[in-house]
Formats: sequence, C-alpha cells, structure tokens
Amino acid sequence: MSRAAKVVAALSVDEMTERQGRAEHKRLSEEIAHHDKLYHEQDSPEISDADYDKLRQRLKAIEARFPQLVDMLSPTQRVAPTPTTAFAKVRHARPMLSLDNAFSDEELQGFFDRLRRGLERETDLKPDAEIALACEPKIDGLSISLRYEDGVFVVGATRGDGTTGEDVTANLRTVKDIPHKLKGKVPKTIDVRGEIYMERKAFQQMNERQEGAGEKTFANPRNAAAGSLRQLDPDITATRPLRFFAYAWGEAEPRSWKTHSEYLKLLKEWGFKVNPLSRLCRTPAEVREFYRKMSVERPSLPYDIDGVVYKVDRIDWQERLGFVSRAPRWAIAHKFPAEQARTRLRDILISVGRTGALTPVADLEPVNVGGVMVGRATLHNADEIERLDVRKGDMVIVQRAGDVIPQVLGYVPEERPKRTHKFQFPTHCPCPLKTKVQSEEGGVVRRCTGGLECPFQQVERMRHFVSRNCFDIEGLGGTHIENFWRDGLLKVPGDIFRLRQREDEIKKREGWGDLSVRNLIAAIEARRTISLDRFINAIGIPLIGEATAKILAQEYGDADGWLAEMLQAARERKKTPDAVKKEKAAAEVGPSYGRLCNVEQIGVTTADAMCAFFGEGHTVAIIRDLLKELTVQPVERRVVAADAKLKDKIVVFTGELSAMTRDAAKARAEELGAKVTDSVSKKTSLVVVGENAGSKARKAAELGIETMTEAEWLKLAG
Ligand code: IVH
Repeated sequence: MSRAAKVVAALSVDEMTERQGRAEHKRLSEEIAHHDKLYHEQDSPEISDADYDKLRQRLKAIEARFPQLVDMLSPTQRVAPTPTTAFAKVRHARPMLSLDNAFSDEELQGFFDRLRRGLERETDLKPDAEIALACEPKIDGLSISLRYEDGVFVVGATRGDGTTGEDVTANLRTVKDIPHKLKGKVPKTIDVRGEIYMERKAFQQMNERQEGAGEKTFANPRNAAAGSLRQLDPDITATRPLRFFAYAWGEAEPRSWKTHSEYLKLLKEWGFKVNPLSRLCRTPAEVREFYRKMSVERPSLPYDIDGVVYKVDRIDWQERLGFVSRAPRWAIAHKFPAEQARTRLRDILISVGRTGALTPVADLEPVNVGGVMVGRATLHNADEIERLDVRKGDMVIVQRAGDVIPQVLGYVPEERPKRTHKFQFPTHCPCPLKTKVQSEEGGVVRRCTGGLECPFQQVERMRHFVSRNCFDIEGLGGTHIENFWRDGLLKVPGDIFRLRQREDEIKKREGWGDLSVRNLIAAIEARRTISLDRFINAIGIPLIGEATAKILAQEYGDADGWLAEMLQAARERKKTPDAVKKEKAAAEVGPSYGRLCNVEQIGVTTADAMCAFFGEGHTVAIIRDLLKELTVQPVERRVVAADAKLKDKIVVFTGELSAMTRDAAKARAEELGAKVTDSVSKKTSLVVVGENAGSKARKAAELGIETMTEAEWLKLAG
C-alpha cells in the first residue's frame, strides 16, 4: 500500500474528501474481491469473517456518503456473501423433493385410493393385490444430501430450494453418524439423503452451555440443528451434538436394490444410521396401526418427530407413479396433531413487553408435552382469560405445536378446586414504579403508562434492540442486558456503543474475561453501520415491526430525512387535537402527517401511535444520542421494472414453506416488484399459503383475497 493509501485507510469515513473516498473505495473493492476468491473458489480464507464483514461495512459506509461511487462492479451491488450465502452452491444431481401432507384419516384414505388407481392404470396391479408401504418416523430436522464417489464422502449439501443447496461438506465431516468411507459393496456414485437432527436432551444441554457463555440459544432442536450446520467455522459445528438418519437417495449408479426396504438394509451395511422404528406394512390397517404406535411412542423418543412417512416400497412402482410439482405421488407425510397435556395452573403472572403491553402468562406445574417440559404458557390478554375463565388452581389443558409458544386451551370443570376466584387484571404495572395500567381504546391490550421510565420496558427495549432482526449483536444476551442495566452500564441504546470505553470495568465482572469482552466489543463495532430498516425496527416504535420498518425505510430513504419527517408529523398532529377518522382527512392535518398515513400498512391508528412516540422529547433525545454513534445507510431504492410480475401487489406469506426459507421467498417477491407484509387486510393482493397455515389463510378466504399454494408460487416466481 502506498503512503497516501495508508493515510486514507486510517481515516474514518466522515473525515474523507471525495477524492480520498474514491481511492479507498477502489482499494476496498479490490481487497474484497481478493478475499471472495480465496473464500469461494479456493476455500482458504486469509481473514476472519468478522474482518471480512468490516471491509464490506466500510465500503458500504463510503458508498452511503458518496453515492456517486456506487457502480455495477462494486461488491455491494453483487449478492452479498453474508453468512447466509457464504457457502458455495451445489446443484443436486436429482432434485430434493418435499412431501405432501395428510392430517386426517380421510386425507390418508385419499392417498391410498390415489395409489391404487394410479397403479391399476400404470401397471397390471390386481384390484385386491397388496401395496406394501415402507413406514418411517418423520424426523423433525433438516434434510441433506451426501455424495459418495467410490464409497468416499466427497460433497454434502443442504436442500436449499430443492434444486440447488449449499455446500456444507466441512461441517458434515464433523458429524459422527456420517461415514467418511462406506463399508462393503457400494455404487460407484450415490447421493445418500436423510435428516440432520438433534436429540432433545443434547439440545437442552447445548442451550444451557450457550446461555452460560452468553451465546445465542435456540428455540427448538430443529432450529439448533439448522443453526449448527450452517456455521462458517466447522470447529464450532464439531462441538454441536448433530445426528443423522439416512432414508433416501438421489442419484445412484448403479442401483442394485429394487425396494425401499432393501435400500434401508444396504444403508446399514454401508455404515449409516437408519431409524430402528421403520417397518414394512402390507395393508392400510397395518399402516394405521403403525401411526397409532408412533403417536404413543412419540413423547418417549429421544428426538422430535412430527409425523410418519409412508413410501411405496417397490421402486418400479414409484417410478410409474412419478411426481406432482415437487412431491412424489408415491409417498406422503401423515402428520401428528399438536400435542396436549393437563396440568395445574399455579398462578397467572404478568409480563411486561417492550412497548409496555402487559401479557398474562400461565405459571404451570411443569408437565411433559410431547417430550418437552412446559412450565409457562401464554394466556395472550385479558379478554382471552375472560373467555377461557381459567383461574388460579385450575387443572388446565396445554397445547404445543412445532415452534409456537405453548398455549392454554381451557380448564377441566370437574377438577376445579372449591374456592376459586375470577382473575382480576392488575390495575398497576408489576414494575418497581407501579405505574397505572391503561386499556387501549378499542384494543384488548393493556399497557403500563410508565413509558420510557418503566424499568421493565427499558430492559425489554434493549433486548429487542440487540435481537436478530434489529442490531443483531452477538454475545449480548438477555441476562447480560439485565445485569448491565441494573449496574448502570446500559441505560439507553447509545450506551451499547459506548461500552468500549468501559472495557476494563466489564472485564472485572463475573463471567467476563479478556477474550469475551474483546469479542463483545468487536460484535458491537461490527454493527456501527446499520441499514435504515433495521434501525427503524430496533428503536421500538409502537406498532412498527420488521415489515413496516422496511416499508418506511423505502419511503423515506435516509435516517435524517426520516427523523425530520416524523418530528414534523408529530408536531402537525399535536396541533390538531381531534381524532382523525379517515385517511382521507389526514392531509388536512399537515403534509408530513398526511404522507405518513398514506404509507402502505400505516393508517391513522399507527400514524397516531408513531406521532405520540416522536412527540416525546425524551424519546427523541435518546434517538439523537444513538444516531451520534452510528452510520445509518440510506436505502438502495428498488427500481421496479414496469412489467415486473408483481408490480404494486401486496403479498403475504403464511405457514411453513418447504422449498425456500421465508426470507428467500420475501426477497424473491420483492424482486418481482411486490411489497411483502405480515398481515392480511383488504389491501392484500395475494396470500401464499404454506403448510400448517392458520388464521391468515382463513382471513384471506373470508376477504376473498387470491391465495396460492407454495407449488403455484414457485411456478410464478420462476
Ligand atoms: S422422504 C421423496 N423420509 O420431511 C421423499 N423425509 O416434508 C423425500 N423427513 O424434506 C423425503 N423424515 O426433511 C422422508 N423418513 C423420512 C423423513 C423425511 C423427515 C423430512 C425431510 C423432507 C420433509 C418433507
């Protein structure tokens, strides 16, 4: 590096002249390209991911200050190899399919009928001949494909979109259930497929370790397995208790087996783990019995299963039956209903959220619900308690389904103790200030009126601030925030970015050392540059979540302009004391208020809540203090082609998608010109309905909004 270049490299971005910015932009672009090559093409990075991110962040900050420097060749204009795309892509030799679901016995019967009709048409199957089905537990993990050449493990990939996955070979080599070399006689090439998962107990222990170390914890074993597999550092994956069951294949040359059950036997001979509960069933009655047995055994299994899978055993028949969109006609997943259990309601507690909303929480006698111990469940709000009429001491029914927070469904009347009392919602916040609780007009929510003064809210806000979709500061967990807050290290968000001045103090605290403090400070520094939408989401404006924050960022473009507009809207609103009933009248209140009300997803109610927030001098001071510490990147405005397929459409995704992640689906919809929102309203144009969708799909049907299945969406999205 020349001397001049060294001088520029040492400058902070706001000190640079445009010429210096241009030089530094060029230098950084070249350096990033160099590291991209090492990482993606040679698999031998020279610098840590954190250092790499720093280079990219500096580049982005320069572009934010000098937008004229952005050109097509800038690394920021290419898909960013952020941790989620940092893995090389692998095209599957054969697509990785998903399964259709059956939730009821009728749906299962439908599958049996379709099989019989299909096979009678396609083969010489006699009307009363048996169709043997291989039956297996459906492991709740994530599917992967392992390529073996001459019996040696060469590449392992995630499912990705079914056609292309991510190369996670190095990580998979650390999984002890995955053989590096196969035993016995094996095909020349084969993709062995199956499920990566984590046992429940190992998951709990791992979460405890993570929590203790101030690291991220996971909501359930499946998320933990996915997160562990997608680590950039295989040494970290190696410490995670990942397991693998094999159950399928992709390409196999030559293929010697004629049935699925023969294949399972071979897998075992080659050295794989195959689920020991798998059975071959010859009649629908046997299949139903298998399902019943598995539902009974489910709670005592060491891992989560969410159903069972039935597969036509004969492979020639599988081939005759073929596929519809992305699922085979010859297999189905028979899902289990949500798990329930009964237990005593010890008490009803009140938790205070970041916006002061008081949520009643059931404090339960811990009970095993489908293998997971549940001690807390949500009771949503005062109306829900009223509706359920659950009381302290009741025997209640608790339900848990997949990822969702356990719920109380109701109480058992015969087991209600003698003297019980209807629950009285508290009139004062449980926080030390004991401020009054207010019912929101029209809404079911009750809120603490302490606002920013309420210590419970302060801690919750800070937790929200550092969370994944906001500033995403790793190593600053909920317990740390509470402790730092109590001891005065953190009072307002800006304090987070001033923690580096208190390194010595933190090092002296219990549980902290040189390394962990250094890592924490590095994690914080890495987030000093932040996108406008994350910033808006992070500051915790009432009623504004991730999706609306994105829309606001798109509308207002940069932090200063946005804040000025919010303050102006708040001033305009203050001058008009009456309630504004209609969006149409909003413009009369003032131009900034009118503009805000017209933003997608924001009506007068949300706008008023925002104006109340920005009308508080104290709040604005906190935001200004924070902004001093940050570089908020302006939005790269999306240019939507006039003929974009979803131009001006408002799209909602609901339920589980199987071929792509929710984020990927959203990103694709946005590319096609759509706005993606989280809730269904009259304005919604399209709802994409995945598996196990609930109220949003119902609402779409009620409002007569167009819906489509995931398969239809994939077709549309290309
Ligand atoms: S077979 C062509 N068998 O379920 C059939 N899948 O909902 C390919 N899964 O993506 C899948 N246990 O991640 C199969 N015994 C099992 C399974 C199983 C879990 C998962 C797998 C798949 C998803 C489909």
